[in-house]
Amino acid sequence: MIIGDDFTVGHACIIYACTLRDYAVVSMGAIILDGAVIEEEGILGANGLWPPGKRIGPRELWLGNPARLVRVMTPDEVLQWMHNPDHYVELGKRHRAALVQQLAVRQGRFRKSLVPIPMPGWCNGA
Ligand SMILES: CC(C)(COP(=O)(O)OP(=O)(O)OC[C@H]1O[C@@H](n2cnc3c(N)ncnc32)[C@H](O)[C@@H]1OP(=O)(O)O)[C@@H](O)C(=O)NCCC(=O)NCCS
Repeated sequence: MIIGDDFTVGHACIIYACTLRDYAVVSMGAIILDGAVIEEEGILGANGLWPPGKRIGPRELWLGNPARLVRVMTPDEVLQWMHNPDHYVELGKRHRAALVQQLAVRQGRFRKSLVPIPMPGWCNGA
């Protein structure tokens, strides 16, 4: 694999010995085979199949199985996709923070249950 910066790989993709340049996108469920290349800001759409050794050019959008060129994206479209990596990094941070918070709550409950509840006539040795 040769990978650039800030590319996106969607859920449930298969990416196999290929090259993904900066801001390339392999959308959800897509399969990209060995020796294939997605150039800067190129996109393989959801569920697309990309054959071995073939190249998606810069800013090209390819869809289907086998994939067909739909269009070369406008600068505005490209900009929207370029927010993807930051968005997922932000989501990751939020999930992490929420998990840490949940864990703290659970540990708090756990410790509480271990603390002996004072009973009438309780003797702590003092
Ligand atoms: C590529 C995508 C953005 C749609 O692009 P679009 O240009 O807005 O496409 P539209 O919704 O206008 O559809 C245009 C045509 O392409 C077809 N089409 C859309 N997505 C398709 C896909 N993934 N595969 C095959 N055909 C598709 C539509 O059915 C439509 O066909 P028609 O003209 O015969 O009616 C979207 O389908 C996609 O693949 N999104 C990926 C999301 C994702 O995985 N993000 C990664 C984060 S995890």
